[in-house]
Amino acid sequence: MSRLLRIKPMSMLSLEAGEQGEHTLKRSLGAVNLITLGIGAVIGAGIFVLTGQAAALYAGPAVALSFVLAGITCAFAGLCYAEFASIIPIAGSAYTYGYATLGELVAWIIGWDLVLEYAFGAATVASGWSGYFNSLLQQMGIVIPPQLTAIPGAQLVKYQGMWGPVMSLPPGVSDAGLPHATGYFNLVAMIGVFVITTILVIGIKESANFNSVIVFIKLSVVGIFLVVGGYFLFKHPALAQTNWHPFIPPKDANGNFGWGGIAKGASRIFFAYIGFDAVSTAAQEAKKPQRDMPIGILGSLVICTVLYIAVSLVLTGLVNYSTLNVPAPVALGIDATGVSWGSMLVKIGAVFGLATVMLVMLLGQTRVFYSMSKDGLLWKWASAIHPKFRTPWITTIVFGLFAAVFPAFLPISRLADLVNIGTLLAFTIVCAGVWVLRVRQPELHRPFKTPLVPLVPALGILSAGFLMSKLALITWEVMIGWLLFGLVIYFTYSIKHSKVQKLAKAAEAD
Ligand code: ALA
Repeated sequence: MSRLLRIKPMSMLSLEAGEQGEHTLKRSLGAVNLITLGIGAVIGAGIFVLTGQAAALYAGPAVALSFVLAGITCAFAGLCYAEFASIIPIAGSAYTYGYATLGELVAWIIGWDLVLEYAFGAATVASGWSGYFNSLLQQMGIVIPPQLTAIPGAQLVKYQGMWGPVMSLPPGVSDAGLPHATGYFNLVAMIGVFVITTILVIGIKESANFNSVIVFIKLSVVGIFLVVGGYFLFKHPALAQTNWHPFIPPKDANGNFGWGGIAKGASRIFFAYIGFDAVSTAAQEAKKPQRDMPIGILGSLVICTVLYIAVSLVLTGLVNYSTLNVPAPVALGIDATGVSWGSMLVKIGAVFGLATVMLVMLLGQTRVFYSMSKDGLLWKWASAIHPKFRTPWITTIVFGLFAAVFPAFLPISRLADLVNIGTLLAFTIVCAGVWVLRVRQPELHRPFKTPLVPLVPALGILSAGFLMSKLALITWEVMIGWLLFGLVIYFTYSIKHSKVQKLAKAAEAD
């Protein structure tokens, strides 16, 4: 039992943080790079796709309050991530934090669980990305065979010259008489993931620069949506008044809408916040991790929260919430202003914006596996660094393939729920870890301190647990199955190859 609870000593972590040389990652990211990395990971399919669905199905205009609720949960966890990231500036995120505080078994569970967040996160976003990309190509007159743009069995129709899911037909339009097609698999999503994987193999510095440019484009598109939409509402206050009334629609027979609907909405749009913690996985590539990691994590979280609340208010002001359950709700919103170039612009922003999310997610995934492999908990190939590019290229390619397969065959909603539960679990463990470390090692130097411990970690655990409780049983079952599979690897491989275990054994023998 004591073997499973063995923690990675701080001294070993500090040593690794200071490691330089041929076989380590390059330290090239500053505070601004980290904030852009965070925003690159955060603003994506959540705001561009899921907000409309959450408004239409669960919360109405009060989806803005769902964002507040989910944002508060993330703030508690973000404060805990920031403390850890400043003390333990090592690639690996929650996994590393868990190893230093709660022991090897818990660390393994988090590392394995993070696959649900990062690899499935990339897969989810690839799915949303392909929808916008297809739509954009069609608007430009380029048509990919529709069978290769959707998951097996998905029903597509051609309406006004464009292929799209049957459910995207405007209200009152019947699909009878329209050309139909059935999806084989989503090749477009696969190709998107392959392109991102290639960029990541070439290198982190190049990836960070690529990311900064695209984050700028993404923020500009969100900004233009807010200005154009906000100005339109300012000029047409009656429209906003109608659409925002009632702001919290009354609860229906299925328990949607009302205050319960706001909570359900929060558990779904939580996806929109996922990614700010990915900043911490780049700690080993930060120039001044002690100062810049907290700035990167909290800075990106605050910026995104403000934007989400504003976007959801403007969107539900422009279009009645009940019509927002479509694949491109933000494009629909800007169409309502009558600005003809609006929807094209939103699609371009979404295509580039979602690409950066995939990039950061895959980057995070490879860095977690890199750390686990360095610790001897995973096979050596997972930390093999390319001699020229100095990136963990084999892991990157393996997870590129992994993330490409899922969106080709599974619907976005399935994937997103798994990502949500995996991430919320990681949040609870990180919050617990901060608390435990304060008790066990109160004297440890903490360049950034989570305020009000243990209140903030406790609220973090409670709020994340609350959102998890709103997710479906099947999601819980898949997560538990995944973790059990991971435990088999732990007990058959990792425990025998763990460096921490070997060191402890050597010390006992002395
Ligand atoms: N927060 C990311 C998104 O919304 C995962 O796409």
